[in-house]
Amino acid sequence: MSLPTRRGVVAGSLALAACTRASADAPTGPLPPLKSLASFPLGVCATTEQFDELGWTELVRTHFDRVTPEWEMKAEAFARPEGGYDFGRADRLADAASTRGLKTFGHTLVWYSQVPRPFQALDGDRRAFAAAYRAYVTTAARRYAGRVVGWDVVNEPVMDDGQGYRDCLWRKNLGMDYVRLAFEHAREADPEAVLFLNDYNLEQLPKKRADFLRLAESLLKAGAPLGGLGTQTHIPADLKPGRIAEAVRELGVLGLPVHVSELDISLTRGPGPLASRSSLEDGQKRLATEVVQAIQDLPPAQRWGLTVWGARDRDSWLRRTPENRGPRPDAPLLFDDEGRPKGVAHAVAAALKG
Ligand code: G3I
Repeated sequence: MSLPTRRGVVAGSLALAACTRASADAPTGPLPPLKSLASFPLGVCATTEQFDELGWTELVRTHFDRVTPEWEMKAEAFARPEGGYDFGRADRLADAASTRGLKTFGHTLVWYSQVPRPFQALDGDRRAFAAAYRAYVTTAARRYAGRVVGWDVVNEPVMDDGQGYRDCLWRKNLGMDYVRLAFEHAREADPEAVLFLNDYNLEQLPKKRADFLRLAESLLKAGAPLGGLGTQTHIPADLKPGRIAEAVRELGVLGLPVHVSELDISLTRGPGPLASRSSLEDGQKRLATEVVQAIQDLPPAQRWGLTVWGARDRDSWLRRTPENRGPRPDAPLLFDDEGRPKGVAHAVAAALKG
C-alpha cells in the first residue's frame, strides 16, 4: 500500500472539502457522517487501489463502518490457475481497512462463476474433488479468521427463473451438498465469522426468493452454520415501491441477520426509455429510503446492515459497462464522481434519522 503523494494529498484535500458541498441534485447543507445516524453498520465495496486515494479513503472513513472487497477475496484474485494461492491483494486490502478503523466483510468463498482451474482436472473424481474443495475453503477462511466479521460463503446459488438451483462444477461433483459443505468448512476454519448465503434479484423475483429461502431452511435443518442472508439489491430506479420492503421482511422470517449486501440503484440499467432523469433520481431517493426503513423494521439483532456497491458513481461496476460511456452515464450510488453527497445521500441520512 503506497503512501499518498503530495499531489495526491492536495487533490484528496480538495475532494474532501468538496464532499461537504452538495452535488448538483442534492439539497444544500453538509451531510452528517451517515454511520453516526445509523442503527446498523454501513458498508461499501472497496478495491486495494482505492485505499491509495486520500479523497476516497476519507469519504469512506467518514460515512462507513465496513468494507467488502470488490474482488480481492474472490477466487479470480487469490487462486492461482496453476494451483496454490496468492493472497497479496486481499491481505493489503484487509490491512488497509484495519489500519483505518474499518471492519472487513469477506466476499466470496464459493461462487458458480469463479471455479479455480485446478478443479477442472478433478471433475468426476468425487473424493479428490471433495478433498480439494475442503482445502480451498478452509485455506481462504482460515487466513482471514479474526480479520473479517463475516463471509458471503456461497454466492448466487439460485436460478433466476424460479427453476431451482444453478448447475455448476461444484454441484456437478458434490451435489447440492456443496452449499452445506462450504458452510461447514468455513466454520471449521473460522469459529467466529458470521456466515452468509447471498444472492441477487430477490426483491424482483419472488419465485427466486422462495427458492433461496428454501435452500436456507434446508441448511438450517441440516445443522449447517448458516448465520445470515444477503440480498444484493442491484436495482433499477423505477422498481415498484414495496418490493424491497417485502423481500427484506420475508428474508427476516427465518430470524437470521439480513444484509442488504450490494446496493446500487441504476438510472440507466432497466428503467424504461420514457423515464426522465429527474424522475429516476426521485425514484432513487425513494428506493434508498425504502431500503433503510426495511432494515430498521427488522429486530435490531437481525440488522446486519447496508452495504453500497461503491462510494462514488465513478467507482461503480455499472460505469464499466459499454453503454455507460455516453454523455449521461449511470449515477447509481450515494456520492457523485467528485465524492459530493447527492440527493439520495441526503434521503438516506433523513431515513437513518428515522
Ligand atoms: O483491477 C484489476 C487489475 O489490476 C488486474 O490486472 C485485472 C486482472 O484480471 O483485474 C482487475 O480487476 C477486475 C476488478 O473487477 C476490478 O475491480 C477484475 O478483472 C474483474 O473481474 C472484477 O469484476 C468484478 C466482478 O464482480 C467479478 O468479480 C467487479 O469489480 C465487481 O463489481 C463484481 O461484483 C459482483 C459481486 O461480486 C456479486 N454480485 C454482482 C456484482 C456485480 O457484478
